[in-house]
Amino acid sequence: MSGDTTTDTKGEGEFGLGSTGVQVELRENGPIVISGSVRFDDGSGPVLSDRLFLCRCGESAKKPMCDGTHKRTGFVADGCQPPQRS
Ligand code: FES
Repeated sequence: MSGDTTTDTKGEGEFGLGSTGVQVELRENGPIVISGSVRFDDGSGPVLSDRLFLCRCGESAKKPMCDGTHKRTGFVADGCQPPQRS
């Protein structure tokens, strides 16, 4: 494995992060958003993307990608407040 690549905690994907312009954002009670020129390879071949939404709640049916299930289940991330319902 090269120095600029990391594997997710389940070993199900490999994320090649470019050395410039990549940003990682933890959305409040939502996914991990990786923005920038990103090469993602889940074993079926590399895909280049400008933005990836990675599931952080563990409930997505499309793991490792977020499918929005966190909203329905009311996922609350560590250190965050529950979403406000109106
Ligand atoms: S973070 Fe969106 S489905 Fe898990």
